Amino acid sequence: MAAAVPLVLLLLPTTLMAASAASGGEKSTHIKLYWHDVVSGPSPTAVPVAQAAVTNTSKTAFGMVVVIDDPLTEGPDLKSSKPLGRAQGTYVGAGKDELSLMMNMNFVFQAGEYNGSTVAIMGRNAVFDAVREMAVVGGTGAFRMARGYAQARTHTFDLNTGDATVEYNLYIKH
Ligand SMILES: *[C@@H]1O[C@H](CO)[C@@H](O)[C@H](O)[C@H]1NC(C)=O
Ligand SMILES: *[C@@H]1O[C@H](CO)[C@@H](O)[C@H](O)[C@H]1NC(C)=O
Repeated sequence: MAAAVPLVLLLLPTTLMAASAASGGEKSTHIKLYWHDVVSGPSPTAVPVAQAAVTNTSKTAFGMVVVIDDPLTEGPDLKSSKPLGRAQGTYVGAGKDELSLMMNMNFVFQAGEYNGSTVAIMGRNAVFDAVREMAVVGGTGAFRMARGYAQARTHTFDLNTGDATVEYNLYIKH
């Protein structure tokens, strides 16, 4: 019994040092970019693949599944802004009585300092809200062990075509 107390005291400083080294190596990164959901035209980047069999769900898109490979750019203009990568994944109409999407996507960086790295985003996107917050649940490359959140704000939404440009701000610890 007597030996147990000194042993605990000896281990304690080592444990504290390991914890502070880990937090000292952690980075906080903010990334602002624009996400383009192109549903119209000859080369859409968001394609519906399923919808509910019942027909009274269309107002809220409940049951709809869309697969996306949406361009990500530095600025808001898809044609002239610098391409940064793609948002690959799905969104699902998950609100029965309101338009609320369940987003599940990887931001795949293909240029700039994060080229080759990815950030995994999952969360609720009530698209008519001014700001929608989603979880950053992980990442690869520069974003290994990532956690944080994303905030989405609609920049433009074309009611005729359904095309949308959304500003995303990512706040990531990794
Ligand atoms: C569609 O309408 C039927 C009949 O009014 C109703 O029973 C059903 O719950 C509705 N479905 C949805 C998904 O709202
Ligand atoms: C991104 O990385 C890939 C693989 O290393 C490389 O082929 C490509 O040229 C890079 N893209 C840019 C824009 O730097």
